[in-house]
Amino acid sequence: MLNEPIPFDPAHDLDALAASGALGGNVALFRQPRGPDLLRRSAPLEEWCALRTRHGVWPYGRTLEGPPAPLATVEGDGLAAAQGINFASQDYLSLASHPAVIDRAMQVLAESGPHSAGSAILLGNSRYSAALEEAIGALLHCQQVVLFPTGWGAAFGAVTALAHPGDHVVIDALAHASLRQGAAAATRNVTVFRHLDCDHLRELLAGIRAVDANGAILVVTEGLFSMDADSPDLPLTQYLCREYGATLMVDVAHDLGSMGPGGSGAIGAQGMLGKIDIVMGAFSKTFASNGGFVACSERSVRRQLQLFAGPHMFSNALSPVQAATVLECLRIATGGEGEGLRADLMRNAVALRALLQEEGMRCMGSPSPIVPLWTGSEAAARIAGMLLARERVFVNPMEFPGVPLGAARLRLQLMAQHTPAQVRRAAPLLAAAVRRALEAPRPVLRASGQA
Ligand SMILES: Cc1ncc(COP(=O)(O)O)c(C=O)c1O
Repeated sequence: MLNEPIPFDPAHDLDALAASGALGGNVALFRQPRGPDLLRRSAPLEEWCALRTRHGVWPYGRTLEGPPAPLATVEGDGLAAAQGINFASQDYLSLASHPAVIDRAMQVLAESGPHSAGSAILLGNSRYSAALEEAIGALLHCQQVVLFPTGWGAAFGAVTALAHPGDHVVIDALAHASLRQGAAAATRNVTVFRHLDCDHLRELLAGIRAVDANGAILVVTEGLFSMDADSPDLPLTQYLCREYGATLMVDVAHDLGSMGPGGSGAIGAQGMLGKIDIVMGAFSKTFASNGGFVACSERSVRRQLQLFAGPHMFSNALSPVQAATVLECLRIATGGEGEGLRADLMRNAVALRALLQEEGMRCMGSPSPIVPLWTGSEAAARIAGMLLARERVFVNPMEFPGVPLGAARLRLQLMAQHTPAQVRRAAPLLAAAVRRALEAPRPVLRASGQA
């Protein structure tokens, strides 16, 4: 069978793995296949993925049994279902298995059923979604909130609804794909500033304003970059936007709830609550559900989003269960229990980073729910991920298009409920796998450059 995994003995088989071609190639090579036959021209991509799957280095379609807990049962990646330490789920405050969250979801499921049955503007709202808009507004000190069925839709919808072909989008080089794709769909005037570099941002804004006094400028960044675990200087970024008549949008998908006083994320931590022009976020990380939002102070912007953000207008709304789940998570995250959970989460992050650094590993960014562990080469990330899965430590190896080519890493995501013992047990395994992967034989590249 094409996808049958090849048994692997790490002590002997790294040479064979390198020779197989499964460590070579990257997704970019297959992005735009050529030829008139749209149904068949993706065949090389399928062959490449199948080769990687057979050799246990395609970790992207695994399944989870049960909740995304710190100790989880994972199947796939060439392995039978196995229980192990899970650093591959984004349930930062461990709210997906919180009894109050589950109770609330079950009550509302029994009361309202599983379906929103319409887009927000066509009777898809519920009293839970209305209460959720208010709760998000209160947390962020923004009066106007629009909900979306996904965080992706919130990002894409906000950029495309607000920026037009005559406008400009100035975006951090490492912004999430939803924001970059939104920018590309909104206007050709997209300018990229070096990651977190406010001097470069200032230079670009000055250049745009020197030639275009009339177009709007939307500046886009994130509260916590999820592949790099770093944050921009938000007061300075917002100041620059004011200076050049630009509007700032900050995506807080990863930091809202999981960081900052009262769960207010990077915006609260930097004293900017109520002072950022537009805040956008997702419920899929800390809030145990799916969905997203955009928050701001202007009622007219809310209306613009409701009518012109495609994923709000033309996609079914959050279901009552999703909205009630997020509300319950918000209640916990913004209260005393949330402070305790964030303290546990940060204890884990600091401990894991310290242990990895003692092992000579390079952790990127600074303490947050995310610990990116640098490998650089895609081959090394693939090998390390595969070795770790066999040690029952589950991580997400990140390579292009999630991160730039040649900047691969393992992304470790922590949860409040990871125990200190799990972190201590995992750190040497992580370090050993990365060391071994970096020392492994170089992959064989076929003449085409593809595996
Ligand atoms: C920064 C950022 N924005 C937006 C999204 C999209 O959110 P969702 O997965 O909830 O659609 C993600 C999710 O990966 C993200 O990391």
